[in-house]
Amino acid sequence: MAANSLLLAALLVVVVSLAPRSAEADKQLPLALVAGVVPCSAGSSINVATVPPFPNAVVHMVCSGRVVAGAKADERGAFTMNMGTITSSLLAPLLGNQCKVVVVTPLAACNASLASVTGTLAAPVQLLDTDSGGGLGGLGGLIGLIGQIVGGLLGGILNIIPLPFSVV
Ligand SMILES: *[C@@H]1O[C@H](CO)[C@@H](O)[C@H](O)[C@H]1NC(C)=O
Repeated sequence: MAANSLLLAALLVVVVSLAPRSAEADKQLPLALVAGVVPCSAGSSINVATVPPFPNAVVHMVCSGRVVAGAKADERGAFTMNMGTITSSLLAPLLGNQCKVVVVTPLAACNASLASVTGTLAAPVQLLDTDSGGGLGGLGGLIGLIGQIVGGLLGGILNIIPLPFSVV
């Protein structure tokens, strides 16, 4: 699975980088949006539905150690980050599981009892497949995604969600 994913990620990068660079073709490449809710909790694989949210938390999208996008959560901990147009330099780390959502604001900001927690809240991310509604875990999903990007069928948006947050 991991090797197959990497192979397909590489293929997708080639396909996207070979795409014509005309203004019209660029318009077909989707925007990547990351939406989720930040939990106010320490722990591992935190279920956001069972803990209070983290209002006004600042979150970063970090891919291969580089900050590629940022946003501030609202008063209910909900955020949407715009990663901009999908490019090969974004797709490779996304499909290679090299991207994560990192909460920059210290946990003490939402609960003073958590001031002693060392570490950072972070979550791996997952692409949402627009066709099946399921995750992109399988080969079929990845092939479908390649087809949708090349065909410009994503409706302009590539939706990405964080998996459960953990203190790392
Ligand atoms: C703050 O964190 C402490 C320690 O995890 C927890 O017991 C408490 O319920 C939290 N308070 C709120 C308001 O969530």
